[in-house]
Amino acid sequence: MGKNKKLLEIAEEVEKCKICKVGKSGKAVPGEGSPDAKIMFVGEAPGKTEAKTGRPFVGRSGKLLRQMIDGLGLKAEEIFITSPVKYLPDRGTPTVSDINHGKTHLQKQIDVINPKTIVLLGNSACVAMLGSKIPILKRHGEVLEKKGKKYLITFHPSAVLRFPNKYKEMFKEDLKFLSE
Ligand code: URA
Repeated sequence: MGKNKKLLEIAEEVEKCKICKVGKSGKAVPGEGSPDAKIMFVGEAPGKTEAKTGRPFVGRSGKLLRQMIDGLGLKAEEIFITSPVKYLPDRGTPTVSDINHGKTHLQKQIDVINPKTIVLLGNSACVAMLGSKIPILKRHGEVLEKKGKKYLITFHPSAVLRFPNKYKEMFKEDLKFLSE
């Protein structure tokens, strides 16, 4: 089976998943991009705009992320953008159990795409992929190697939007790793 077909099957699984929907609403947001992406961006959970459209990172923080990606000379079609949690949490922020469940779908996507580098956008992404919270302000820019993959720790774009003077330059610097 081709990678595209496998990713579609995972997306259908997310659409049918009853556990995913607990305490959440809106359309499923499985993620989008190239099945052969070398770089994968992992966020937290869809926001309202994402839940309306079914597309990841299309709201305000998504615009910022996509601008940064453009600025690096990367094309949206060359990468894959997703989040561990696939539906909009009623409380805005997902719980650890939301992340741990969503991660089962995310891991399947990673297994199909097999990216070289995974960009961890904030703490929920770190919990999903590294198994614990990370002090982002202290460790942003760090690249960890695990089972042949690189994990770049950085800010979630919504934090950058909230404190642009404080975080925007650091976020930009962290992401430069991707063009190297
Ligand atoms: N924030 C996320 O973490 N993921 C999305 O898909 C959108 C906003």
